[in-house]
Amino acid sequence: MRNLFMLLVATGCALPDNPPVTQEIAWVDQETEDLARRACYDCHSNETVWLPVHRLPIIHGIVVGDVERGRCHMNFSTWDLGNEDAWDAPDELLDGDMPLPFYVQHHEEADLTDAERRRLAEGLRATFELDPPKDGEPCEGADDDDDRDRDDDDDRKEDRRGVRTEPTDGTGATGDSF
Ligand code: HEC
Repeated sequence: MRNLFMLLVATGCALPDNPPVTQEIAWVDQETEDLARRACYDCHSNETVWLPVHRLPIIHGIVVGDVERGRCHMNFSTWDLGNEDAWDAPDELLDGDMPLPFYVQHHEEADLTDAERRRLAEGLRATFELDPPKDGEPCEGADDDDDRDRDDDDDRKEDRRGVRTEPTDGTGATGDSF
């Protein structure tokens, strides 16, 4: 059984390279950073820890997809880019939506106690006061050369385009311009 696992891993899918950290968020204190690293960094940073088991075909698809989608919503490693969804992070945490329950089943260190969840939510709020997320999303307008076309349902970013319209009569005083 173990040999079969090793064989599958050896012949499995290649693990993606982590993109560079362009600007790390400035954490308010070490405890907040430690909790975020334990529970969020695998999917919301460019410091994902990839494991041999992630090479297995079906698992590979799930994990790579989660990491790509996670990073496109909020990426603590690209704080120079838009990260507006981060404002929802304390609520996601307190509601038990994040970290993803499936992930927690396989990562004990991410299984935060209620007290740790509250502490991290507070720490995130305090961090965002010091180093607020910029408007927009991390993947918007990025020319991601790592993005392979076979990847899934990531076409939502199109929806945000063309929201703003200019008045067309040249006066700018149309009164109905929203
Ligand atoms: C296993 C991967 C994984 C982990 C770990 C994880 N997330 Fe996520 N996160 C995702 C994915 C995938 C999405 C996008 C969900 C979607 O497509 O709706 C997401 C979305 C989010 C969003 C955006 C929600 C919105 O407004 O749309 C926030 C905020 C967030 N996560 C916070 C966190 C926090 C805080 C942690 C750590 C406590 C965390 N996540 C851990 C995968 C993860």
